[in-house]
Amino acid sequence: MSASPRGRAVGIIGTGRVGSVLAAALADAGHPVVTGRPDDITIIAVPDDALASVVAGLGPANVVAHTSGAYGLRVLEPAVARGARPLALHPAMTFTGRPEDLARLRKGISFGVTAPPDVRPLAEELVRELGGTPEWIADEHRALYHAALAHGANHLVTLVNDALDALRAAGVTRPEKVLDPLVHAALDNALRLGDAALTGPVSRGDAQTVAAHLAALPAGVRPAYRAMARRTAQRAVAAGRLTAAQAAPIEELT
Ligand SMILES: NC(=O)c1ccc[n+]([C@@H]2O[C@H](COP(=O)([O-])OP(=O)(O)OC[C@H]3O[C@@H](n4cnc5c(N)ncnc54)[C@H](OP(=O)(O)O)[C@@H]3O)[C@@H](O)[C@H]2O)c1
Repeated sequence: MSASPRGRAVGIIGTGRVGSVLAAALADAGHPVVTGRPDDITIIAVPDDALASVVAGLGPANVVAHTSGAYGLRVLEPAVARGARPLALHPAMTFTGRPEDLARLRKGISFGVTAPPDVRPLAEELVRELGGTPEWIADEHRALYHAALAHGANHLVTLVNDALDALRAAGVTRPEKVLDPLVHAALDNALRLGDAALTGPVSRGDAQTVAAHLAALPAGVRPAYRAMARRTAQRAVAAGRLTAAQAAPIEELT
């Protein structure tokens, strides 16, 4: 399979948040891009649950790719049976349908790629054309790969929104302003320092403070706080930041 996709016609099926951004970026990279029908390289960017039915109804294409994180190559088997080569090409980014999506893609992101060996050179070239970096994911690890991203990014949105609501309930007038430097610093530290980034009551073994937090938080948030405090204590012990004896009263509360 040719390692240079440049100039090859790309058909994009599904022009929602991901498909429209990829269409713009691939057109910029010099590909004739058509939307809504298959072509030499067909990229399917529809909701995960619609993927199988779209693949089933696909016309001829040399390469059929999808942008789902959780799905691997198996969902593309009907297209492979008709002679296409399969590719799972997941942009590890959040696309919300806003103008900043394309700028973020252009800045350079990672793509979780699963491909048979003969498709890898083309996949690598496509990703490079999009300004990105390929991360090769084994087919059997797609669900774990995607779970990691959902846990780190999607659940972060929920954590931050629960924190914003709690600050509002505590009378804080500009909760975004309060959280902005704190959350950015914590994220930056976690990405650079790993478990050494941990601060706060769990890292100090302050069980009474954790108990006070649980009493103050709204009932809807309490189970998530408990689960995260327990997991935080476990990681702190494993990293040597907390002794098992210090963690025990926290684990009892959670
Ligand atoms: N959004 C993200 O942050 C993100 C990031 C990485 C990967 N992904 C993956 O990218 C894929 C697309 O996600 P998305 O967020 O772009 O979804 P989306 O914004 O909901 O867009 C999906 C598009 O697919 C179309 N569509 C739905 N059912 C279809 C069908 N049966 N046949 C043809 N077109 C159909 C929709 O058209 P209508 O609007 O007319 O229904 C829409 O244009 C998913 O696999 C997702 O997991 C998403």
